[in-house]
Order: sequence, then C-alpha cells, then structure tokens
Amino acid sequence: MPRHTTEAQKRIGILGLGMHVPEKVLTNADLEKMVETTDEWIRSRTGIQERRIAEPGTTTSDLAYEAAVEALQQAQLDPKDLELLIIATTTPDMLFPSTSCLVQQRLGAKSAVCFDLSAACSGSVYAMITAQQYLLNGRYRNALVIGAEVLSSFIDWTDRSTCVLFGDGAGACVMAPVARGGILATDMGSDGSAAEHHYMPGGGSKHPPSHSSVDQRLHFLRMNGTEIFKLAVRRMADSAKRVIEQGKIKPEHVECFIPHQANTRIIEAVVKWADLPIEKVYMNLQRYGNTSAASNLIALYEAVRDGVIKKDDHVVMVAFGAGLTWGSLLLQW
Ligand code: ACO
Repeated sequence: MPRHTTEAQKRIGILGLGMHVPEKVLTNADLEKMVETTDEWIRSRTGIQERRIAEPGTTTSDLAYEAAVEALQQAQLDPKDLELLIIATTTPDMLFPSTSCLVQQRLGAKSAVCFDLSAACSGSVYAMITAQQYLLNGRYRNALVIGAEVLSSFIDWTDRSTCVLFGDGAGACVMAPVARGGILATDMGSDGSAAEHHYMPGGGSKHPPSHSSVDQRLHFLRMNGTEIFKLAVRRMADSAKRVIEQGKIKPEHVECFIPHQANTRIIEAVVKWADLPIEKVYMNLQRYGNTSAASNLIALYEAVRDGVIKKDDHVVMVAFGAGLTWGSLLLQW
C-alpha cells in the first residue's frame, strides 16, 4: 500500500508482512503414537492434519525475529527507523524482560519503543489495534506488530484433549499511515468471568515454580474445550458483525475472512452466525494447528502471498482467546 500523504484522511495500513514456522512437522499419525487418539478423530473434530514444533532451545523470540526481518524487508523499512515494536505472545522467552526487547536487540531497532501484549489467541488483532491507535494519534510513525508462540513448551504431551490442537509459529506486519485502503473499523472485547475455561495455572505469582507445582502439572495449559467452543462462536461472530456494520459494508462485500485458526467447526459456525459467505473464508489450520497469537497474521500472510487477497479487497480478521478476549479488524487491502 502507498504511504500516507495527507493528515485529513489518515488511515493506518499494512506495508509489509512476514512469517516463520519451525521446520519440524508433527502429524496426526505421529500423535497417534504419543497419546490415545486417531487421525480421524483429530481431523473430524478440528480440521487439523499437522502442526509445526520448535526444536528444544528454539524460543519465541527466534521465530519472531525471522518473521520480523521479512516484514521489515517487504516494507522497505530499516530497523533503525522503527519506532514501535509490539509482540503479542502467551509464551514469552522469559517472564521478563519482554520478548519484544529481545527482538529489538537482534534487529538493531534502537529507536523502537518495545512491549509485549498478553491477549492469548487474540494477541495479534489486539496488538494491531493498539499499534493503530499510536499511529493514528501521531505518537509514532511506524510500528512492527508480531504474534509469536512456542506453545509446544507449555503443552502437556500426555493430555490428548489439548496436545492435538496447538502448534508453533510467528507472523509479523509493519504498519504505518497509508494514502489508500487500510483499517476501516475495529472491535475489541474481554470477559474475565470465563477465565477459568482456558488458562495455565503455574509459573506466575499465584503458583510460583516449586516441586509441588511441577508434580501437579501446573505449568501446562488447560482448557475446557466445550465451553470455549460455544463462547468462541458467539463472540467472534458478533465481533465480525460489528466491524462490518461500522465499516458500512455488507457481509457479502467481504472478499476475505481471516478467523483465528483454531478449529474448522468453530469457523464454520462463526461464518453461519455472522452471515458471511463460506467460500470467502481463509483457512490454513490444517497445516499449522492453533498457533494462538500468531494465527491471524500467519493466515493473512499466506492469503496475500497466494493471491487470495487482492488490491482493494475488504478483509475481516477476527480472533478469540483465553481471558476471554476477542477482537476484529476490517481493512481494505
Ligand atoms: N482423541 C480422541 N478422543 C478424544 C481426544 C483426542 N485427541 N480428545 C478428547 N477426546 C474424547 C474425550 O475424552 C471425550 O470422550 P468421552 O466422551 O469418552 O468422555 C470425547 O472425545 C468427546 O470430547 P469432547 O471434548 O466433548 O469433544 P468435542 O467434540 O467437544 O471436541 C474439541 C473437542 C476439539 C477440543 C472442541 O471442544 C474444541 O475444538 N473446542 C475449542 C477448543 C479450541 O479451539 N480452543 C482454542 C480456541 S481459544 C484459543 O485459541 C485460546
């Protein structure tokens, strides 16, 4: 997208995209050897066929860095000129310092203000909306948003109800004011009353690491899949409807719908509820599983790379995650 020229019509758009996933593929057949499950069960309940898993020692900042380099190159932005760097992640390298500071150091983005954002699977949409606000108010002139996760480090590989769902990866975008297109509408929401349905109990101040916390397997993610399923459908559909309305378009004018890549059944239900054309939905969860905060940006990257999204297309991104959190963006490409 061309860069912004006049203040009056200021909109924020995407100048470059990047993604990175680990090489190692873990298929449903591999999982059959690890827990009591079948390829048929996983495909029919989730749509997932395989996911990428980071090698031991590979961190979230490693994946984030690779995605960032590509996005900056595509945007033709020298890291030295970057002003804001936000990383959305639930799986930071460490509790502190922020993963964004670690990536800043590797990029040599010395002028960037850096922080991490915690919104679970809604992370990249939350971070894009946050960056948009800083860019709209003129505080910064450009921003790099990254969603990155090494979820495999926090998965109980003996729990078949969660270990089949998730994968590792990173997606990134460079955002700045644009002269044409860009973000037309946004929506965000949260509901802490449902926090108990998806969480990782250990490692924070509630259950600091101890022999007992390890014995109780508190350092792995936990999820009530059935509850999350129901809430995800309603929240994502309502949020998507709100940005479509705000953007003053009709559902049939959405050329590409990029939902959080968690589960085909959730996505099909969202599309039905929000009255969106099913043929406009972009899905790559069959290859990556649920990559949490990285999922929407990885999907956007591939949809653009593969020519699914074309110039002037209306794109709706919608996400849902633990918290609960949800959010949507309507943008014109
Ligand atoms: N293989 C075989 N059987 C399994 C597996 C497995 N991997 N996992 C669970 N089962 C069994 C259960 O034990 C249960 O058996 P039982 O009836 O004997 O007790 C049976 O399958 C049905 O279990 P349900 O949980 O009712 O299955 P459901 O149809 O709800 O599908 C699933 C489970 C796929 C997890 C679904 O609930 C779901 O997708 N939920 C949303 C999860 C999700 O996408 N979360 C991430 C989104 S939010 C975010 O990203 C932060």
